[in-house]
Amino acid sequence: MNLIEQIKENAKKTRQRIVLPESHEERTIKAADLILEQNIADIVLIGTHESILSSAKKYGLKNIEKATIIDPAKYDKIESYANMMVEIRKGKGLVKDVALKLLKNPLYFATVMIKYGDADGEVAGADNATGDVLRPAFQYVKTLPGISVVSGAFLMFLQDKEYGDNGLMVFADCAVHPNPTDKELAEIAVATSKTTRSIARIEPRIAMLSFSTKGSASHDMVDKVVSATKIAREMDPSIKIDGELQADAAIVASIGLKKAPGSEIAGKANVLIFPNLECGNICYKLVQRLAHAEAIGPVLQGMAAPINDLSRGCSVEDIVDLVAITANQAIGSK
Ligand code: ACO
Repeated sequence: MNLIEQIKENAKKTRQRIVLPESHEERTIKAADLILEQNIADIVLIGTHESILSSAKKYGLKNIEKATIIDPAKYDKIESYANMMVEIRKGKGLVKDVALKLLKNPLYFATVMIKYGDADGEVAGADNATGDVLRPAFQYVKTLPGISVVSGAFLMFLQDKEYGDNGLMVFADCAVHPNPTDKELAEIAVATSKTTRSIARIEPRIAMLSFSTKGSASHDMVDKVVSATKIAREMDPSIKIDGELQADAAIVASIGLKKAPGSEIAGKANVLIFPNLECGNICYKLVQRLAHAEAIGPVLQGMAAPINDLSRGCSVEDIVDLVAITANQAIGSK
């Protein structure tokens, strides 16, 4: 069974309530139908009964009646949701009228639903930009204790099985936080170690990447990675991590031995942490295209509840896979 199949099977054992706020969107409602057919998760759709059921009819979907459909305009908890929003963001000047207006936006409604405990996770982004999906999550679901930044990891399935664990590697941050400090970079490493265990299902060996290996160059950018490595070790002494390492020293055994002798990570890394988002985003796309790797993600990490953002070019199958991953994150966080 491949990794995604295992993730789906695990999701089926403890069905989580995953909210899909973009119910008006064709791929999303088709994915909801498949998820319900395969019993991967319980699905909450935000929208009117009429529009959702008429889309289901239009596309010939047979399972949508098993979804929980919530129409915010007729929802009896709307006042309680607005009160909770005001409580969370009164320091930012949020008043109830504005909260009620925000709840008309399904992306806000979905995250508040999770915060209130009425759903376990969310998948959106087939029809909305990353920032629009993430902002409500940052504001209401917020980050895990001890973590201040959300980041995005990719599972990279390489053709060349000599790298990582039989070709599987995890890259981060490739999606969210443009320019992390040393402390934030350490948090990204620690969060990625958890994603690697719970979703990639391999034991992480983390390389903190730079353009320098063990002092071969000196620059503020190198210092940041060295400091982040130290902080990550303090945050979680159990993780196997080393840095600063160049990419070749991290993944090629003979180069690791030469440039970083004695390192337990050099030459054997299966997790690559990039010093900033430019590196991470550019590298994962290059590896995906030039090395024909399959890239699954971004799996968002560090959030207090799992919320994942789709690419607007996603397929129905991508949405089904991301819902299964989100359900696994929800199971792991309980
Ligand atoms: N983790 C946790 N909270 C965050 C983060 C983060 N990484 N970034 C911002 N926040 C919080 C802020 O603290 C703030 O909270 P507050 O309102 O309580 O004070 C709130 O979110 C809004 O902060 P802004 O700085 O105004 O953030 P903004 O909403 O403008 O931007 C965003 C956040 C959209 C994620 C931005 O960092 C961004 O555009 N990142 C790049 C995303 C991207 O384009 N990725 C590449 C494409 S994805 C791909 O290729 C797979």
